[in-house]
Amino acid sequence: MKNTMPYKDKIKTYTLRVNKMLEQSLPNAELPPRQLHEAMRYSVLGGGKRVRPLLVYATGEALGIEPSLLDAPAAAIELMHAFSLVHDDLPAMDDDDLRRGQPTVHIKFDEATAILAADALQPLAFELLAETPAMRARPEAQRRIISALARACGSNGMTGGQSIDLASEAKSLNAAELEHMYRLKTGRLLWVSVMSAAYCDPTMTAAGLHSLERFIDALGLAFQIRDDILDIEGCSDVIGKPQGSDLELDKATYPALFGMQAAKDRTQELLEIALASIEHLGEPADILRWIGNYIVQRES
Ligand code: IPE
Ligand code: IPE
Ligand code: MG
Ligand code: MG
Ligand code: MG
Repeated sequence: MKNTMPYKDKIKTYTLRVNKMLEQSLPNAELPPRQLHEAMRYSVLGGGKRVRPLLVYATGEALGIEPSLLDAPAAAIELMHAFSLVHDDLPAMDDDDLRRGQPTVHIKFDEATAILAADALQPLAFELLAETPAMRARPEAQRRIISALARACGSNGMTGGQSIDLASEAKSLNAAELEHMYRLKTGRLLWVSVMSAAYCDPTMTAAGLHSLERFIDALGLAFQIRDDILDIEGCSDVIGKPQGSDLELDKATYPALFGMQAAKDRTQELLEIALASIEHLGEPADILRWIGNYIVQRES
């Protein structure tokens, strides 16, 4: 049956879906070690746009994959994202005190608790992928998703990108170097979101995978450029993070290095590349197109 629900309602349904999975998967805060469990729940459940889980479900919708098969990858990727944010905000990294409109984890608790909470979110993500019955019923998809998530977060993925980001403060990168950093620190987790659904499609071809990879590669870059634009033009109340954090740290960002107009033009160009890459998927991919537009236009 054709799914004709309006986009906003679908987004809400998928958001509730992953929130429920996260809520059920995180350890009970009443159980010891209580502070650690409280900090884990605080870092994951206190808001966030859930863009990565939404990409998992939306890609699944475009490909005709049951959402019940995607709950574990959607939640696991969000757990890895939350871990990356907790570390990103630490004094040793971006030293930020506000996230999703609330005190960051090291401010609300303390630094050691923040480090440990993030440490514990990572194995929980892989445990979910390894143990959820829907995943265990599809061992080949399960293996590919576990492997892709591990690579997406390692030294050639998000963690490597964060290392390059820190080493690039007060440096002048060229566009290729900057986009390489964006691809790793932000793009790889978005990539695994789309790939997780693709790996669940037994009819997927190499060409089909390649076009989805082109789609999310362009959108991943656009996502981080938009984040950098909002760091300058947004206001803290709306973005839920301290405005001006990048300028304060002299971060290498697209608007700082190439100007605000060039940054905005680049997000539009990337959106067009992304949309062209999934043209062949027709109407079932409209939700992915909606998310693409949202990513470059969002205000938070
Ligand atoms: C922030 O990600 C970190 C970046 C990769 C730019 P999001 O903008 O997705 O943050 P939440 O999850 O909505 O808080
Ligand atoms: C962070 O980029 C990317 C991550 C891997 C967490 P930013 O440092 O720009 O993210 P925000 O602006 O703090 O969310
Ligand atoms: Mg950072
Ligand atoms: Mg940051
Ligand atoms: Mg930022």
